[in-house]
Amino acid sequence: MSDRVIAIDGPAGSGKSSVARALASALGWSFLDTGAMYRAVTVAALDRGVEPSDAPAVAALARAAAIETLPRVVIDGRDVEDAIRTERVNEAVSIVAANPEVRAQMVERQRAFADRQPEGTVVEGRDITTVVFPNATVKVFLTASLEERARRRGEEGAASVARRDEADASRAASPLRRAPDALVLDTTGRSVEEVVEEIRAWLRTRPH
Ligand code: DC
Repeated sequence: MSDRVIAIDGPAGSGKSSVARALASALGWSFLDTGAMYRAVTVAALDRGVEPSDAPAVAALARAAAIETLPRVVIDGRDVEDAIRTERVNEAVSIVAANPEVRAQMVERQRAFADRQPEGTVVEGRDITTVVFPNATVKVFLTASLEERARRRGEEGAASVARRDEADASRAASPLRRAPDALVLDTTGRSVEEVVEEIRAWLRTRPH
């Protein structure tokens, strides 16, 4: 199904979610926010008193969890749409996302999700272009200045955004990397519409 996938990666606040959502809507495709899945597992761990660094316990929890991301983020029947964006989750999510067993679980679900979609899927995250869908029709890597990314992330603050980027890019399991064949777009000072239009223009030049 990777012939019907547009894969978007980039650091926190680079515009992935807004761009992926708008692009999916313009194409009539589905949208998958994979960061929300790692965040949901983090909320479940914290709520159950499981230490994020307790890799086997978090992996077991992830394996057993039922996770939905649309229309709202739900884990094991609990709506965590708001809980996933809190400071305690920002602080712990990189530890959960560095857990190779959790990643294997999430990657399997992400591929299964794309397989089920009647049209295509726009998928965004950190390892989508490199690990989850290395054969995606189109791969995009979004960047933006740290200043702008911190501004977009609001209360999280530049120090926390920078710390999370460093953790996500330096971990052993599927670190954030630019795929060599990805279209690299700097979204600093640009609107979501402009970026979506640029990706669509690039798409039109690609063989189907
Ligand atoms: O995109 P986000 O900020 O909601 O992602 C939350 C965290 O999850 C982020 O710190 C990195 C991690 N993540 C990941 O490791 N792999 C993905 N495919 C998506 C997110």
